[in-house]
Amino acid sequence: MNKAKICVLVSGGGTNLQALINAQKNGIIKSGEITLVISNKADAYALERAKQNGIEALVISNKAYETRKDFETELIKEIDSRDIDIIVLAGFMCILTEFFTSHYPRRIINVHPALIPSFCGEGFYGLKVHEAALEKGVKVTGATVHYVNEIPDGGEIIMQKAVEVLDGDTPEVLQRRVMEQAEWIILPASVEKAANEIINK
Ligand code: GAR
Repeated sequence: MNKAKICVLVSGGGTNLQALINAQKNGIIKSGEITLVISNKADAYALERAKQNGIEALVISNKAYETRKDFETELIKEIDSRDIDIIVLAGFMCILTEFFTSHYPRRIINVHPALIPSFCGEGFYGLKVHEAALEKGVKVTGATVHYVNEIPDGGEIIMQKAVEVLDGDTPEVLQRRVMEQAEWIILPASVEKAANEIINK
C-alpha cells in the first residue's frame, strides 16, 4: 500500500514523536510513515529517538538564520526535496509564519496541550499552558490536534480529548497527565486520519 510520507518537527524531549513511532509499530498508524525528523535544537532528545528508530534526522536551527523567512525557506527546501505529504508539529516551539503555512494547506498538524480555544495562541506553549490552566482554576483541561494555518492555534480542529485537573496538581504533574491521557492518543489517531485522507484522495 502506498503510504503518506510524514515529517515530524520537534524542539525537545519528543515524547509525542515517540508516541507516533510506537503507533507506527503497533499499526495504529498504517496509512503513513515517518521518514524525516527535523529539530530546531541540536540538543533535543527527540533526535536520539529518531536515530534509535532509523529515521533520518536533521537539525535546522532558527538561530542560524537572520530572518524567519530564511529559516522557513530552508525548512521548505529540505521537506520538499523528500516529497513529504504531512508535516507534524510535535512540541515544535517556533511559530511558523504564513510564508511556511500557506505552502502546505491542510498538510500541517499540530498538537496543543489544552482544549482550544482555551489557553492557546502566542505565548502559550509547553508548561506555560498548564501554569495558566492551574492559575485560572479550571477543573477540566485536555489536548487538541488541529490543522495549522497562519493563525497560531487557529486552524481546523481534528480531535480533542478532555483530562481532569486534580487538587494539588503542579504544572509538571498536569502536563504529564495531559500527555498520557490525551496527546499520545489523539496525535497518532489524527495523523492516521489525515494520512488516510491523503492516500485515498
Ligand atoms: C507537548 O505537551 C506539546 O503539546 C507541547 O509541548 C510539549 C512537547 O513535549 N506543544 C506546545 O505547547 C506547542 N504550542 P514532547 O517534546 O515530549 O512531545
